[in-house]
Amino acid sequence: MDKPIGVFDSGVGGLTVAKEIMKLLPNEKVVYFGDTARVPYGSKSKETVVRYARQIIRFLLTKDVKAIVIACNTACALALDTVKDEFDIPIIGVVKPGVEMALRVTKNKSIGIIGTEGTIKSETYTKLIHKVDSGIQVTGKACPLFVPLVEEGLLKDSITREVASRYLSVLKEQNIDSLVLGCTHYPLITNILQEVMGDKVTLVNPAIETAKELSQLLDEKGIKSLKLNELGHEFFVSDREEKFEEFAKLILKYKMMPVSHVNIEDY
Ligand code: DGL
Repeated sequence: MDKPIGVFDSGVGGLTVAKEIMKLLPNEKVVYFGDTARVPYGSKSKETVVRYARQIIRFLLTKDVKAIVIACNTACALALDTVKDEFDIPIIGVVKPGVEMALRVTKNKSIGIIGTEGTIKSETYTKLIHKVDSGIQVTGKACPLFVPLVEEGLLKDSITREVASRYLSVLKEQNIDSLVLGCTHYPLITNILQEVMGDKVTLVNPAIETAKELSQLLDEKGIKSLKLNELGHEFFVSDREEKFEEFAKLILKYKMMPVSHVNIEDY
């Protein structure tokens, strides 16, 4: 089935998820929407994020997508449960795959979660982990400065290292052995996070697991594309196409398709 996969995020961060999907499923075409006009979602209310998610799903449906991946932890934490039953299309997110991987990885049953304020306050990760094993100690820590630091391109900077040391100290105290990167931007500062946490802590990147879950879903539904996608992918944003394109080149490390503007409030 040659219909595309819709992937969306509050902005550029979801490209780290799109990248894993493109790598694992080269037959699939991705239609990506980044809500660059309304980013960040991390500090917004549930009601607002649900409204945004509905609009974006309605837009992606106009692109005839066969499945949707919410490639934004905040949108998953606050809106996935609400929107997934409202539309007649499979919708998956990044939180559940991240949880499943963390559960496989942890040995000492002490898991750390880092994410935006919205994600951490919602306790979505903690609740899902405790549904499987209530004996696991989960320590969540909101790291609101990471997103702007990444967007400023300070991926290897000493400022980012300093901020990470402060944020992560509480997790080190809890003796966690696995740390879920519960925000789309964080895989881009993996090196710093690993350095600060030390070698004994396994970093869990939900993006990789999400691509695997998508592959499984497409198999189950019998809607996987059988021939190589040679048409490339499509990218849409709600503001500042040129800024998005710059960042996208950095993440995807290949020449981009043109980025188009969408007035998302129309949907
Ligand atoms: N994409 C968001 C997330 O994964 C981070 C950026 C934002 O706050 O919108 O939670």
